[in-house]
Amino acid sequence: MAESVKLNPDNIPAHIAIIMDGNGRWAQQRGKPRIMGHRSGVESVQEIVQVSGELGVKVLTLYAFSTENWKRPPIEVQALMGLLKNYLQSELANLIKNDVSLRCLGQKDKIPPEVRQVLEKVIEQTSGNKGLILNLALSYGSRSEMIMAVQELARKCVEDGLDYRQIDEELISAHLYTRGLPDPDLLIRTGGEFRLSNFLLWQISYSEIDVTETLWPDFRKENFLKSIADFQQRQRRFGKTGEQAQATKR
Ligand code: FPP
Repeated sequence: MAESVKLNPDNIPAHIAIIMDGNGRWAQQRGKPRIMGHRSGVESVQEIVQVSGELGVKVLTLYAFSTENWKRPPIEVQALMGLLKNYLQSELANLIKNDVSLRCLGQKDKIPPEVRQVLEKVIEQTSGNKGLILNLALSYGSRSEMIMAVQELARKCVEDGLDYRQIDEELISAHLYTRGLPDPDLLIRTGGEFRLSNFLLWQISYSEIDVTETLWPDFRKENFLKSIADFQQRQRRFGKTGEQAQATKR
């Protein structure tokens, strides 16, 4: 792909979420074990984080491990946790240098303690950074996130005197892992499957979706810029007519 993608700097998506799929197929196509695909996928993560920071993206959310991924063969789960730990250890200095703050969306308590410790250290040491917010979705599932929010709201109704009529979109959003962050403007899924895989189901209500055939380890800067360029061609209507949307440009 030629280095020719031109972006409008005034219309960079504030929040980009990515379902990083296709690592296994990438490896299988090369006759390698699946883990080699994940390993190569880490290089894509590094590149996309770097470019996001340079473009001025405010929030990048990467689906690194779902609640369902625990069902994979233990050897693959172990390898993924190992890659995550290495990534966090080796990337800390770079994240600090690039003013990136790391956060985790998901059931942090399910992450093995030796990985969780590193994760918490990186979150803590980057918490004051003011550039890109990098959300790693780890042991994340949208339905379990919603259950957590509903339970907490129910508890507040019973114990704290919250009036159930006060429960609105804003209050629900404020009880999700993504509280305080804008909803994704753009959702990218690599690997060509048209599925949401239990990812940010509440938050992506009005996101633009780009499904690309490119497998995650092959998804690099130029592919990312092309996705954003495609996003910039879309008219976001938020339920309004095209004419209304053009007039109000929300
Ligand atoms: C899906 O590909 C990918 C995953 C389940 C893991 C994604 C993990 C990484 C990119 C590396 C670790 C992440 C970080 C942040 C260091 P798949 O295995 O389902 O691919 P397939 O559909 O081709 O089998």
